[in-house]
Amino acid sequence: MPDSRSTVLENRDLGGGVWLLRFRDPTIADDVGPGQFVMIACSPPYEPLLLRRPFSIQRVEGDVYEVLYRDVGKGTHRMTKMQVGDEVQVLGPLGNSFTMPRPDETAVLLGGGVGIPPMVALADALEAAGHTRWAAYVGVSGIVDEGCFVGFDERWPNDDRVRRATMDGSIGFEGHVVAAWLDRGITGPTRAYACGPMVMLRAVADTAGTHDVPCEVSVETMMGCGVGACMSCVIENRAYRDGDEAARKSMSPYDRWLLACRKGPVFPSDRIVLDDGGFLH
Ligand SMILES: Cc1cc2nc3c(=O)[nH]c(=O)nc-3n(C[C@H](O)[C@H](O)[C@H](O)COP(=O)(O)OP(=O)(O)OC[C@H]3O[C@@H](n4cnc5c(N)ncnc54)[C@H](O)[C@@H]3O)c2cc1C
Ligand code: FES
Repeated sequence: MPDSRSTVLENRDLGGGVWLLRFRDPTIADDVGPGQFVMIACSPPYEPLLLRRPFSIQRVEGDVYEVLYRDVGKGTHRMTKMQVGDEVQVLGPLGNSFTMPRPDETAVLLGGGVGIPPMVALADALEAAGHTRWAAYVGVSGIVDEGCFVGFDERWPNDDRVRRATMDGSIGFEGHVVAAWLDRGITGPTRAYACGPMVMLRAVADTAGTHDVPCEVSVETMMGCGVGACMSCVIENRAYRDGDEAARKSMSPYDRWLLACRKGPVFPSDRIVLDDGGFLH
C-alpha cells in the first residue's frame, strides 16, 4: 500500500459540519476497491507527526479521489483548514472490498451519515460492472446534514433506485434506512451491504438474517495505524462469542479478535459481534 503525497483539489463545506475533500494522486487512485479507505495525516504540514485518521474513499475519477468527512474532533477539524494545493501525506488504499453480487441478485446498499461514502463507491463499482440491479437507502438526521448525500446527489439526483431518508422527515422518507428498505419490500434474490452507526448495522444485520439475505457491513472502529501494527481496531469474532467452551479454547486471540484494518473493514454481518464499544457514530 503506497504512502504518498496527495494534492488537495477541493475542500468544500457542505454544511452541518460535513465536508468533501478531493485529492489528486495517481498512486492512490490507481486501484481502489469499493469499501477501501485511506489514512490521512491531518495536521500541518500534513505529515504523519500525529496519528493519521481513517476515511473511506467515496469516489475515484481518473487520478482524483474524494472523501466525505464530518468535523468531529481535532484531526477532522484540522482537515477543514486544508487549502487547494496543499500536499498531504496519505496511506492507502487500505483494507478489503465488498463482494460483488451475483448477476441475478439485487444489491441493497444501506448507508447512514458519514457511512454513506462506501455505498457511493459500491454503486459506482456496480455501474462500472454493468450491474444496474441495485437500490440504495441512505439516511441522515435531517436537512442539516443532507451534505452526506452528495455522492448520490451528484450522480443520481433523480433516480428511483436511490431513496433518501431523514429521521425528521425533512427530506424523503421519514424514518431510518431499514424502515425505508422494508417499506419497499424485499423481493427476489438480494444481497445487502451497509455502513453507518452501530445501531443501524445491527438493524440491517437482523433484518438480513430474518430474510435470509447475505449481508456485508463495513465497520468504522477507531484505528491507530491502519496496517495491522497497533491492535487498536479489533472486533470480536462471533464464533468466539457464540461458541461453547471447547470452541473458545481452540481459538487463539488472533482468531477471537479480528483486525478491522487488515481483515476488514468489510465483514459478513454474521461473522462479527456488532457491539457499540469503540465506535464513533
Ligand atoms: C475504515 C474507516 C472509515 C471511515 N470513514 C469515514 C468517512 O468516510 N467519513 C467520516 O467522517 N469518518 C469516517 N471514519 C471515522 C473517522 O476516522 C473519525 O471520525 C476520525 O478519525 C475522527 O478523528 P478526529 O481527530 O477528528 O477525532 P478525535 O479528536 O480523535 O476524537 C473525537 C472523538 O471521537 C472519538 N473517535 C475518534 N475516532 C473514532 C472512531 N473511528 N471510532 C470511534 N470513536 C472515535 C474519540 O474518542 C473522541 O471522543 C472512518 C473510520 C474508519 C475506521
Ligand atoms: S489500526 Fe492498527 S492494527 Fe488495525
